[in-house]
Order: sequence, then structure tokens, then C-alpha cells
Amino acid sequence: MGKLECRGLTKVYEDHRKALENVSFSIETNGIFALIGRNGAGKTTLIRILATELQPTSGSASINGLDLLTQEDKLREKIAIVPQEARTIRWMTAKQTVFSYLLWRGFSYNDAKRLADESLAKLGLEQYANVMTRRLSGGTQRKVLLATVTAASEADVIFLDEPTTGLDPISRRELWEILRQLGRDRFIFLTTHYLEEAEQLADKIGILKDGKLVSFGALSELRKTVRYQYSIKLPPKTQVPQLKDGEVTTDKSGITQIMTNEEEAFRLAKVFAEHAVKFSIAPVTLDDIFFYLVGQKARDE
Ligand SMILES: Nc1ncnc2c1ncn2[C@@H]1O[C@H](COP(=O)(O)OP(=O)(O)OP(=O)(O)O)[C@@H](O)[C@H]1O
Ligand SMILES: [Mg+2]
Repeated sequence: MGKLECRGLTKVYEDHRKALENVSFSIETNGIFALIGRNGAGKTTLIRILATELQPTSGSASINGLDLLTQEDKLREKIAIVPQEARTIRWMTAKQTVFSYLLWRGFSYNDAKRLADESLAKLGLEQYANVMTRRLSGGTQRKVLLATVTAASEADVIFLDEPTTGLDPISRRELWEILRQLGRDRFIFLTTHYLEEAEQLADKIGILKDGKLVSFGALSELRKTVRYQYSIKLPPKTQVPQLKDGEVTTDKSGITQIMTNEEEAFRLAKVFAEHAVKFSIAPVTLDDIFFYLVGQKARDE
């Protein structure tokens, strides 16, 4: 099994802005990895460095044994990327789009034609094969872009920068299904602003904050990096008992959330049950973890 390894990746742009700071992690290149973080956290910078589009200021990385800096030509044959700002070419049909990408990657004419057909079919895009992409909705255009990298059958690692941004909830779920299938025999490295997507889709998650990797691992491992592992929710106007440990917040709709440790969570649950107070209890979600690590609370500290 191969690995993607980053060792101290740092990127300082010309204007001296530090977009990445000493990012190190190692991950097996199978399944799906999701990188999350606020606007400007450094997600695109990291993806562009790993996809050999951008040189790091310092640090190194390798993917499946190929070094990013010294073996970039070999590495490029093994990876594919759909950038954040990628658009289809308006005057090409869906099939021409995939076909020309494959020719550019070095496939023969016949292989490119066959793979383009297969890939469009895989993504349920057959009916758009001969339609100019300018006539397709934004979501379908994104699927066509995904079809290009799916067709690049020799690419074991696929980088997707915000693949589902702007898609409607149904199209998003359709795309998740496609990504899950792709993740069975490839490694998908994606970024997203939809935390539910990362939670549902990714085997491992990384959280970037101001260029630093503040959390990395499976969701169960991420939970260990925050102070409290449990969340209890109470309906509006419920009296909150004295806590031994934990944090209480109330949202606009009056729902109170108590974040606390396991022992205290179960003690409180017992108290609520005894007093017939309605409540829900669950392990903290990625949402809770994200807000804890990069949201208001973290900034106030
Ligand atoms: N070409 C560039 N030149 C100078 N600064 C840049 C360049 N590209 C990005 N930056 C800066 O580097 C930081 C990280 O940007 P990056 O695009 O990697 O963030 P991101 O996490 O992808 O954000 P978003 O969620 O908005 O896509 C930001 O402060 C950004 O302004
Ligand atoms: Mg970005």
C-alpha cells in the first residue's frame, strides 16, 4: 500500500504571506481524505503543491514513493487534479472535453475515445456526450470535469478542490456516490466547506487553520483532540443544572448545547431522565469539532 507523506511543507507567497506552515502528515493512499478549513486557510495551496503546480518554500513530500521535487514528471503521470476554479471549455461537447484531456495526457486516439465513453457512462452523462458544455447546468459541467479525471485510468491519486461547491443537495449526493466508487480503487484527496460531506465521505479528515494542520485523522481520532467528546442538547427554556465540567451555549432558537466529557454527559443524562427533561445526547460532530478548533471559541482563547 502506498502513502502520501508531507514533511514540513511551508509556503510563503511573494508578498510574504505564510499560506502554509510546517504541514506534516502521512496517509495511506486509498479511500477518501477531506481537507477542511476556513477561506484562506491554505487548502488550495496545499493541493496545488501536492499536484506539482506550485513549489513549496520549504519542506518536502512524496506520493506512493515518488518525490514531489525530484520525480515530478513521473509523479504527474500518477495524479490528476480538478482545480477549484476549473471550468469546462464552452464550445466543446462533454465527450470532446474528456477526449481532449486524455489525448493531452498521452493516451492514443482509440484509447482516449473508448475511455471517454466509459467514463461518461460511469457518471451517467451519456445523454450529454454530444452537447456543448455551455448548454449544461453548472452541476453537470462539474460532473463532466470529474469524468475527465475518472477517465485518466492511470492516475491513482485524484485531487479535487471543492468538487461539490454550488451543487444542489441532490446533485451533491449523486457526486458523493461517484466519489465513493472512485475511492474504492483510487485515492481521492478533496477539499470542502461542507462539514457533513467530510463526515459522510471521508475516511480521514485534516483541519487547516491559518496554514497549520490543527487536527488530522479519522473522525473518532479528531474527537480526541477536542476538550469535550459529548454534546447534549436541550429544548428552549430548560434549566441547566450546575456542571462539574463543560461548556454551555444557547443558539438563536433557544436550544442549549452542553459540551462535556463522557462521565459528566452520562451523569447529566441521568439527572435529566429522572426529572423527565427532554434532551438528546450524542458524540460531538465534525461541526462541533470544527467550531471548537477554528471557530469563535478558539479565536477568543
Ligand atoms: N498566488 C497567490 N499569491 C499570494 N497569496 C496567495 C496566492 N494564493 C493564495 N494566497 C494566499 O494564501 C492564503 C491561502 O490561500 P488558499 O487559496 O490556499 O486558501 P483556501 O483554504 O483554499 O481558501 P478558500 O476556502 O477560500 O478556497 C490566503 O491568505 C491567500 O490570500
Ligand atoms: Mg481554495
